[in-house]
Amino acid sequence: PTEQRYEAETAPAVCQGTIDTNHTGFTGSGFCNAANAVGSYSEFTVNAAAAGTASVGVRFANGTTTARAANLIVNGATVATVSFEGTGAWTTWVTKNLSVSLNAGSNTVRLSPTSANGLPNIDHLNV
Ligand code: GCU
Repeated sequence: PTEQRYEAETAPAVCQGTIDTNHTGFTGSGFCNAANAVGSYSEFTVNAAAAGTASVGVRFANGTTTARAANLIVNGATVATVSFEGTGAWTTWVTKNLSVSLNAGSNTVRLSPTSANGLPNIDHLNV
């Protein structure tokens, strides 16, 4: 099926932080710089034609040399912890593919940091 892109800065996505544009290479009109605190988040509402396992690509940048861990929270349930490694620069964006079980129809997919280092900057999801 055709992939759909969901921008972190475009409603109904919610960025618990700021929408920034200061590091080039993002798609759309910006990216989510979530607050560097446990419990902040970048959340997406994604649609699935049918229930099942979907490949969810998270495009992110982490300009530090320390991996940042985040809970992957799908429809309110934490289903995994994901490590977002350093990408070398805040302008170097990479896509990490996650396997996610989705319901048919609308789903919330939230990334929420497990440490005060916060999330990487989040550009978009591909589903
Ligand atoms: C820098 C960078 C931000 C990033 C932040 C962080 O301030 O410019 O884009 O979000 O570091 O460490 O999370």
